[in-house]
Formats: sequence, C-alpha cells, structure tokens
Amino acid sequence: MCGIIACVGRPDETVDVLLSGLSSLEYRGYDSAGIAVANGALDIRKREGELDNLRAEIEDRPLTGSFGIGHTRWSTHGPPSDENAHPHTDAAGRVAVVHNGIIENYQALRDELEADGCEFVSDTDTEVVPHLMASYLDDGYDASESFRKAVSRLTGSYALAAIVAGEEAIFATRQDSPLVLGVGDDSYFLGSDVPAFLKFTRDVVYLENGQSVTLRPDGWEVTASDGSALDPTIHTVEWDAEQTGKSGYDHFMLKEIHEQPTALRQCLSGRLDPLAGEVVVEELSNLEPPERVQFVACGTSYHAALYGAHRFREAGVPAQAFLASEYSTAVPPIEDDELVIGVTQSGETADTLSALRAAQGHGAETLAVTNVVGSSAARECDHVMFIRSGPEIGVAATKTFSSQLVSLSLLVESLAPGTGTRTRALVESLRDLAGNVQSVLDDALPSVEELVDELADSEAYFFIGRGYNAPVALEGALKFKEITYEHAEGFPAGELKHGPLALITEDTPVFAVVTGDSVPAQKTLGNIKEVQARGAPVVAVTDGVLEVERFSDMVLEVPETEGPLGSLLANVQLQLVAYEMADYLDRPIDKPRNLAKSVTVE
Ligand code: M6R
Repeated sequence: MCGIIACVGRPDETVDVLLSGLSSLEYRGYDSAGIAVANGALDIRKREGELDNLRAEIEDRPLTGSFGIGHTRWSTHGPPSDENAHPHTDAAGRVAVVHNGIIENYQALRDELEADGCEFVSDTDTEVVPHLMASYLDDGYDASESFRKAVSRLTGSYALAAIVAGEEAIFATRQDSPLVLGVGDDSYFLGSDVPAFLKFTRDVVYLENGQSVTLRPDGWEVTASDGSALDPTIHTVEWDAEQTGKSGYDHFMLKEIHEQPTALRQCLSGRLDPLAGEVVVEELSNLEPPERVQFVACGTSYHAALYGAHRFREAGVPAQAFLASEYSTAVPPIEDDELVIGVTQSGETADTLSALRAAQGHGAETLAVTNVVGSSAARECDHVMFIRSGPEIGVAATKTFSSQLVSLSLLVESLAPGTGTRTRALVESLRDLAGNVQSVLDDALPSVEELVDELADSEAYFFIGRGYNAPVALEGALKFKEITYEHAEGFPAGELKHGPLALITEDTPVFAVVTGDSVPAQKTLGNIKEVQARGAPVVAVTDGVLEVERFSDMVLEVPETEGPLGSLLANVQLQLVAYEMADYLDRPIDKPRNLAKSVTVE
C-alpha cells in the first residue's frame, strides 16, 4: 500500500525528514520511492525498488529544499518502474503530486487531457492530477484553487499531497485513503500513518474524508469540502516506538483484521455499478466466459478457492478447487474453454506456481487472482485480477482472505452473470459489506474475550459449516491452529458423522457457522444437535436467522446479509477468536513457529 510523507518547517533537513518518513512507512510494502522538494523551483528524485536505491540516487545527485513531499509506491496502475514512481509532475515541472489510492475516472480524465495536448510519461492514474492542476494554473487560478478544482474532478479513493513551484505551501486532501497531520512546534507534517513523523511530533489530527489541509512555514489550516475553515481536535499519540509500525495495534494480524473495511472498499472500488446493478471488472474484459473452471491454491487461498468453485457451480459453470501441491501429481484433463485460476495472495507460492505451469503445459488458459502486482503469478498467467488488499505482514492471512472471497464473487458475476435479480442483490450487499464488517469489529470483543476465558483449557477445537460456510469452517480451524498451536480441525458439517464425531467430547468445543436460512444452514442445525448430545460446548457463529442461539452454549453474532456474504462476516468473528486465544496463550502471533509468509519451496 502506498505511503505518503510531507514536511514543512525544517528547511535544513527536509530531505532527511522525508527519507526517514519513507523508511518508517516501509512496513506498508512498496516497490518504488521518491521525493520532491521546493526551493522556488521543484526538484525530484525517484527510483524503482528499495529505498536504498533512492538514497543512492540522492547521494549521486544531492538536492535541497525548504519543504517537500515523499512517497513509497505499491503498484496498482502500471508495473514498478522509475517512470511510474511518485511524485508525478506536469510537463513543465511546475506541480508535483504524491497519491495513495485509486482514481477511478482517470482514463476519462487522461483522454480529455491528451486531447488538449498533454503528454503522459507514466502508466499511473495519479499523473492526471498534476496535469489537471497545471491546466487550472494556466487558466489563471492560484495554486490553492487549482488544487481544489483538480480534486473536485476526481472520483475514487485518494490521499493526495501536492506542491507548486514558487508557492511556499503543501496542499493535501483525502477520500477513503488515510492521511494524518502532524503538528510540531515550528514544523508540520503529513503521513499516511503516524509513524511517518512520530519522531518529530506526537500531536496529530486525523483528517476526515473530504477534508483538505494546507501547510505553510507559519502554520496549517484544515478546511471542509466547501472550503470553510475547521477547528479540528488535536490528539496526542501515546504509543511507544516499537508499536508504531502497527499503528498502535499489538500485532500486525490485529491491525490487518481491522483494516478489512478499508481493504474491501479498495477491492470494490470502481467494480460495482449500483445503478445498473452490475459488476464491472476491467481486468477481465478480455476474458471469454469459460465452459469449465479449475482452481489451484494452498492454505487460506485454497479455502477461498473452494468458495469460488461453489459459487461458479451455483452459477451453472462446472468448477472444482484443487490443492496446488497435489495438482501436478496427476493433472486433471483440460478441455477447450477451460479456465485454470490460481488464487494466491503473494503470487509467489511455489506449489501454486507449479500447478499453474503444469496447467499451461497442458494447454490451459490461466488467470491469477492475487494481491501482489508484479508477482510471478501475475506475470506468468494469461490474465490477472488484483484483490487490492494492500500488503499483509502477519503470517496468518486475514484481510486477504476476505478480499479473495469478494474478488471471486465479482469474478463469478463477471464470467457467469446471473439473472438481474441475483447480481443486483449481490451488488447491494457488497455496498453494505465494509460497514457490516466494521460493525462486527466494533461489537465482537466482549463475547470473544468471554469465550476465550471459558474455553482456553479445552482439549481440541472443531469448526463446522455447510455450503458457503464449509470453507469458512476450514479457514477458522486453520487460523486457530496456526497461531494458538492448539489442536483444531474444520469439517463440512455433514462429514462429522462419517468419522470425526468419534473425537467429540465435553472437552472439545464446536464452532458452528450458520448464516441465512438455506437448506444447508437448516441441516447444520441437525449437526449441532449431534455434537451437543455428546456433551460438546457449541459456539454458534450466526446472524440469528434460524435462531440457532437456542441450541448453543455461546453465540458470536454477525449482521444479516445476502447469503454468500454472511460467510465472510462469520469468518471475521473466527479471526478474532483465533487472535484473542493466541494472545491469551502468549503466542508470537505475527510469526508463528515453523511458518513463513510466502512459501517459495514445494
Ligand atoms: O500467498 P498464498 O496465498 O499463495 O499463500 C498460500 C498459503 O501459504 C497461505 O494462505 C497460508 O495458508 C496462510 N498464511 C495461512 O494463514
């Protein structure tokens, strides 16, 4: 995820402050970095790759300025390269801009600007902003007005900071991407996150959507979207340095669980047409609807693939999910019009890459559903769809699983569109999804903590669900075992009586995921009764539609929503259960023993 830093008021050390800010933002993940400083004219250095590449460039070609902006880029539009790195400028180099987020209408703006004679030098959506600002400067508007007018043309998500030659000011704003103002004694800062400037000040203003801020050497001003001045609250940050990369959370995993509403908004940005009730995934426009689908994936991504295969089958397309590590041992027959989809957060998992290569060797058309631009899967597959979660640091996959479920739902609607009603219902629920996840995150903690106190000494933990909730049961168990080191197993609920029921005792709590009132959900009630009859404590993870709480010892509630998305909400509860139990047991949550974030060996 991109990172922004800006600083005014430390003229002797602007470059050092910007570089130190970028270094504090490295944890967000990035593939290029750059800075722009102003000394009357603007001066820019930017380089693909590690921050050290930028440092080397600055050592070779030093620059100074009394204020400036900086950026770490995590590619979305265009591959990592010097040209695509931020800051971006207009042709004359009068305006420099850094941006985090996605400008959804950039293509229309770019077409318009190109028609007016602008020449673009990057593939980015961001570059439209300096060109727009320059066109307003040409029309006679001042720098501040030009910034405001350019921003008013944008749709999408953005945190933006801009500087203009000859103007002693930094102009910034945000919409659905984070931006924080740091208020020092004689210097002022902007950062995507507080760590970017924490060593200079602990006093911060968390900017709200639609607000803008102007920093000058003699002060700062926050304004509302109509330009009226605001008097925002200044908060004092209490965290210690160790915690800062985690934005105050104790672990990256918890931070990433809480980032899910933002990650989902980002995933959906520009991909829903609420008026038409349709899904529009631009990356898939060249992909013909397949006759059959095979998924290959590992671990959490495999659970997402099971969900995706289920949804394709419901849409009338034969689909099956394979464990990537087993796929190449006997590659299934691949027919004409068959699509093989690799689901992989990192895009670098060796088993998944090997399965995709095997499928290609057998003539399959391939699609990567991945989080990482420029990853091997993204480069090697015929098509790619990005889940846009932002970097995930914790080994346990959390926000990327949610974004995978949503991406696969979009994929199914794009390649096997339903009747108007089905797609419209999904589009409406997807619009509410981030808010529903937020309400789970806001309300879950008391019940989860009580449950952890009650169940922490159990012998083993089981997770069951049917239909859409079967992959969630598997995922709930995987998350639980990998970070608590306790024995946990997940089963499609109907499978219990075919063997695992022998393990059920009063010392083995069973988490039953029941959402909606479908036939699979109703059948799960029977399975709950089977385990209860054998003395197992039952934890219902439910929206309450089937009143499953009447048959349960404990309940974790989720809001009621359209069928397939209830599973995603239930999974957020199970993420919190795993996290809180691991924390209670004092486990090293972000780096569980023996595991790696990216598994690059078969
Ligand atoms: O990067 P990938 O999605 O391909 O990784 C696959 C698995 O290694 C991964 O999902 C793993 O199971 C998770 N880290 C578990 O939380």
